[in-house]
Amino acid sequence: MAKSVTKAIGILTAGGDCPGLNAAIRSIGKAALGTYDIQVIGIAEGFHGLINDQTKVLGDADFSGILTRGGTILGSSREKPFAKKDTDPLAEHKVEMVLENYKNLHLDCLVCIGGNGTQTAAYKLSQLDINVLGLPKTIDNDLAESDFTFGFMSAVNVTTEAIDRLHTTAHSHSRIMVLETMGHKAGWLALYSGIAGGGDVILLPEIPYSPEIIAEHLINRARKGKEFSIVVVAEGARSVKEAEQRKKDKAAGKKKKKTSGPSAGYQVAAHIEKTTGLETRVTVLGYLPRGGTPSPFDRQLATGLGAEAVRLLVKGEYNRMVCLKKGVITSVPLEKVAGKTKKVPPDHALIAAGRLVGTCFGD
Ligand code: F6P
Repeated sequence: MAKSVTKAIGILTAGGDCPGLNAAIRSIGKAALGTYDIQVIGIAEGFHGLINDQTKVLGDADFSGILTRGGTILGSSREKPFAKKDTDPLAEHKVEMVLENYKNLHLDCLVCIGGNGTQTAAYKLSQLDINVLGLPKTIDNDLAESDFTFGFMSAVNVTTEAIDRLHTTAHSHSRIMVLETMGHKAGWLALYSGIAGGGDVILLPEIPYSPEIIAEHLINRARKGKEFSIVVVAEGARSVKEAEQRKKDKAAGKKKKKTSGPSAGYQVAAHIEKTTGLETRVTVLGYLPRGGTPSPFDRQLATGLGAEAVRLLVKGEYNRMVCLKKGVITSVPLEKVAGKTKKVPPDHALIAAGRLVGTCFGD
């Protein structure tokens, strides 16, 4: 086996957890330590552990039996080394603490497994002479340069099963069932599971919806004898009116208000019941798609991405994010990912297919 340029790495998992994280840790650990004798140091709870030097040297036993386990054996947090929180006395020292601990641990590279925020932080660290490698993870699938992130297909499976279950109770009671999914900025999860589950209405953050168009669509279905309907709503979906108000506020430099009040699913349901008189119920799936064992797709994707990360480590190629791109596992420079969100393009093939089979997208 070729000798590795990299002798020691730190691994951290940051941001919202998802199925597949442990599969990725296992792949990196077995390939790095098992095949190339690279020391692997686990960092607890994302960047929080790197700031506070909460680390542990990992051995073969740590990577065994975790392929199918949900969550992350390292723990995670949304700690951001570059975030300036006035209330946090450590704020301006966090980056120095990261640099110091990285040096004291004698790391050659920091492997950051996470979503948008994590990859952006990793890129900023790479500008400060820390070698980093990113692995894309999130149930939102909203990372640039990636066809799919691991976590996403597992979440689609759980959400689609929920839609299937809602179909039977909607049919029994001739009701409108509204299912709210995660996905603040991007509606990939709502789109894929909505189409897979046969949602009659699918509302995405990318397509501001008209409550009137939704009501008309449901009434037309009822008139044709369709006794029930399924409405899939991403938590970030907004009405046209709300979206316009947000645009005005943004243009006026107003800070984005912390959304209080009923969530998107409840807002849509209230309008449906008020304007159509059709009995409506809401289910918020919340964190369920973030839990449990990874799907086979996510297990193999996480394994492939982890192995590709180690190939780069062996060659000493840093400051990239490994990814599945156009069906191939490859890597891209981190600056092509940092600060970006991959949103659903309005002309996406699944939207076009949905429209052809009569799905309403609220517009
Ligand atoms: O980033 C993934 C995600 O699950 C989003 O879909 C969701 O809005 C967010 O995390 C929830 O964040 P937290 O786990 O911090 O409550």
